[in-house]
Amino acid sequence: MSDWPEFETIQSLTDPQVIQLHELYRSEWWSGGRRLEDVRRLIENSRFIFGICDSRSKRLVAFARVLTDGIFKALIFDVIVAQDFRDLGLGGRLLDSVLAHPGLQGVKQFELYCLPELVPYYERWGFSTEVGGVVLMRKENGE
Ligand SMILES: CC(C)(COP(=O)(O)OP(=O)(O)OC[C@H]1O[C@@H](n2cnc3c(N)ncnc32)[C@H](O)[C@@H]1OP(=O)(O)O)[C@@H](O)C(=O)NCCC(=O)NCCS
Repeated sequence: MSDWPEFETIQSLTDPQVIQLHELYRSEWWSGGRRLEDVRRLIENSRFIFGICDSRSKRLVAFARVLTDGIFKALIFDVIVAQDFRDLGLGGRLLDSVLAHPGLQGVKQFELYCLPELVPYYERWGFSTEVGGVVLMRKENGE
């Protein structure tokens, strides 16, 4: 039997996988400060969860989540692949799972935000920066 892992797609996380997600977040500049208890709440409050794990060990190696109103918008957040499993197509497999999910088929627009370097990557799935001139705005809560 090959030592190379086989992967399975999951739509909920076990408690060890939530801890592994916290580790994935800790390794990225945009999510490094997230606390484990907040990651637990984030999971509870995100209706659509997409994970990929090693079929044997069940280790979580890739993750994304979607917030949606079910009709107009579906926002894809936190697309992340473990560093030792990048460039194997797992990020693409996650995006395929998101876009094909039966619960999201009625939604008119999928959206995400990313660094400019990743624009060509997401363009492969039909995402475009042509969004009618709108810009992302943000207010830090409490300021
Ligand atoms: C971006 C990310 C999810 C891609 O996942 P992946 O499983 O490694 O990607 P895939 O195997 O599906 O695709 C690999 C392709 O993406 C490209 N790619 C991956 N990361 C990239 C980056 N930061 N900038 C530009 N291209 C990138 C690779 O060059 C490769 O291109 P190729 O197919 O022409 O060889 C992964 O690199 C990651 O987790 N990055 C850190 C977290 C992050 O920044 N997430 C994005 C949030 S918007």
